[in-house]
Amino acid sequence: MNLIINDTIQFVKETLAGAEAGHDWFHIERVFHNAKAINETEQGNWLVVALAALLHDIADAKFHNGDEEIGPKTAADFLTMKGVDPDVIQHVRDIISNMSYKSSLGEVTFRSKEMEIVQDADRLDAIGAIGIARAFTYGGYKNRALYDPAIPPNLQMSKDEYKNTTAPTINHFYEKLLKLKDLMNTGKGKAIAAQRHDFMEAYLEQFLQEAEGKR
Ligand code: ADP
Ligand code: NI
Repeated sequence: MNLIINDTIQFVKETLAGAEAGHDWFHIERVFHNAKAINETEQGNWLVVALAALLHDIADAKFHNGDEEIGPKTAADFLTMKGVDPDVIQHVRDIISNMSYKSSLGEVTFRSKEMEIVQDADRLDAIGAIGIARAFTYGGYKNRALYDPAIPPNLQMSKDEYKNTTAPTINHFYEKLLKLKDLMNTGKGKAIAAQRHDFMEAYLEQFLQEAEGKR
């Protein structure tokens, strides 16, 4: 494998040691594999796709007091130190700055085929069985309730509301996770998302029936 990709894998593993389980090295590894599979049909620039997938959560704003610059900057500083082509670095930086769901709630200023691939790869890891595990892990990390019938989901959140919500974890399924299937960019992403979406729907149905004492 490309040397720079290998070095980046090492850097990400070291940097994310001890990270919350939904945003740790294993999340990055799954996104990297998803991105590779999608890129086989989409034929984007593999170096850009690989580096953006590996570095996309290197310093997530929600674990850094909301600072949205620190992630792209940490990635760019690392790649500059490694002597990567400045055009590749700029592209990776643009992808990381614009690919998140939260960014998509604000004004979108950048798109590329490579960004669409990495965004799909990341979104796939937010849904299905892994997506369910990640959501409750994040909710536990933030000490959120599992569910609370008195707090209904807010389906039209602004970017600031999304960033500052303290709602129960079950609301996150309606506020974000169930929307992702229709936001996928690539054919392969859409196909995998459809199956994972159905699994989440079945899970939620069972969850709500148990919560209401019906099963
Ligand atoms: P993005 O970084 O694309 O804006 P998030 O960081 O908000 O998206 O979400 C990444 C993952 O973190 C989600 O798919 C989910 O697993 C978890 N997560 C984020 N916010 C919440 C929340 N309010 N409740 C439960 N899980 C969440
Ligand atoms: Ni991610």
